[in-house]
Amino acid sequence: MSLYERIPNNVNLSTDKRLLRALEHWLPNYMQWWSDMGPEGFQADDVYLRTATSVEPGGWAHFDYVKMPDYRWGIFLAPPEHDRRVGFGDHFGKPVWQEVPGEYRNMLRRLIVTQGDTEPASVEQQRLLGQSAPCLYDLRNLFQVNVEEGRHLWAMVYLLHSYFGRDGREESEELLERRSGSSDKPRILEAFNEPIEDWLSFYMFTTFTDRDGKYQLLALAESGFDPLSRTTRFMLTEEAHHMFVGESGVRRVVRRACEIMRETGDDDVRRQGGVDLPTVQKYINLWFSLSLDLFGGEVSSNAASFFSAGMKGRVQEEKYPDHLALEGSYHVGGEDIPLRNAMNEVLRDSYIEDCEKCIARWNRVIDEHEIQYQLRLPDRRFHRHIGAYSAGCFDPQGHKLSEEQWNARRDEFLPGEKDFAYVRNLMVPVMEIGKIAHWISKPTTGIHGMPFEFEYVRREQ
Ligand SMILES: [Fe+2]
Ligand SMILES: [Fe+2]
Repeated sequence: MSLYERIPNNVNLSTDKRLLRALEHWLPNYMQWWSDMGPEGFQADDVYLRTATSVEPGGWAHFDYVKMPDYRWGIFLAPPEHDRRVGFGDHFGKPVWQEVPGEYRNMLRRLIVTQGDTEPASVEQQRLLGQSAPCLYDLRNLFQVNVEEGRHLWAMVYLLHSYFGRDGREESEELLERRSGSSDKPRILEAFNEPIEDWLSFYMFTTFTDRDGKYQLLALAESGFDPLSRTTRFMLTEEAHHMFVGESGVRRVVRRACEIMRETGDDDVRRQGGVDLPTVQKYINLWFSLSLDLFGGEVSSNAASFFSAGMKGRVQEEKYPDHLALEGSYHVGGEDIPLRNAMNEVLRDSYIEDCEKCIARWNRVIDEHEIQYQLRLPDRRFHRHIGAYSAGCFDPQGHKLSEEQWNARRDEFLPGEKDFAYVRNLMVPVMEIGKIAHWISKPTTGIHGMPFEFEYVRREQ
């Protein structure tokens, strides 16, 4: 099969000889990376996966069994918008760019590489999880997320190869060389170097960290560099499923904890082999705070430059009355900051609001079981490593602590060694059709109309 048949696309790959040559060179390295760093132990199995075959309605969600190395990593851009104009910043109202504007070349490359780096990083972080899957349904969802993150890497590499010449080719190779958690060549952002060694971490990651991804993509979808806007708009269609996997995963863990308490009359959920709600809360504290850091500093001249240049906007920029953001200020930690410098905080606020809704939906499950417990998001100051709050210590309510107090109480707030060990201990693989691990409840529906009792992954014997 020729390369452009292997790679479904709507970017005229068959006639774009330069791009084709660049990808021909990159593809074997990508496949090598997938075989080294992709899900370990399942590469020969048939997985019931969704593949994008075109951007037409219905075309991007084709379901069938496929072995992951044979997945068709496509390159798709959302359809062009007629006469699209730059929606914000200094170039507001001018036609969007179809080629990289020279003065913004470095900025744009940096935005694309930073986004691109997160895609393979998450696959690396989740590489061993399949071996402890609670059921075939979740195993399949993990792999769906993994292949789509792989495709997202393709999307960013397409931009690098098509628009950045030799620099772009070098960056594309480096995207395959960095490794999550490595000490000499780590991934760019901290949350993408954190280990994900149990399924509760995976669900938290896909709830909170993939949701950061959603907000970054929404901001890039506003970009005046049209190819970036169109690529990210299509990626967002896939991101929705990742967040579903996360949110519904946590919900099922919470539901199971509640069921156990009701069925056994024992409030000690750990004694009954489930994940207790205080542990769920600690995991929320960890992954929410790590994900907040991904938005960058509260006051940021970089963010201001991205906005001025028309490269990275606000979520649904058209909702704002003023697209120049030259006047006005934003309230950040008791101070008023010029609006353009506060763009990271503007984006972070939209994100936090969205996360609050997740927490409310999880709490509804607890309410339904008439259990007196509420999950909550920690304060934005809690456990930060980047920005205005990174220098101090704060408890989850946002109260300042001395370093000594923090050290003494850290394990009240965040999962400690014992918590991780307990959760990891529960992670015993269940691979029989229709069966599920004790610590999580079944999903209410299956995938693509299939029942829970479906062979989502056909294990190679
Ligand atoms: Fe992604
Ligand atoms: Fe994702």
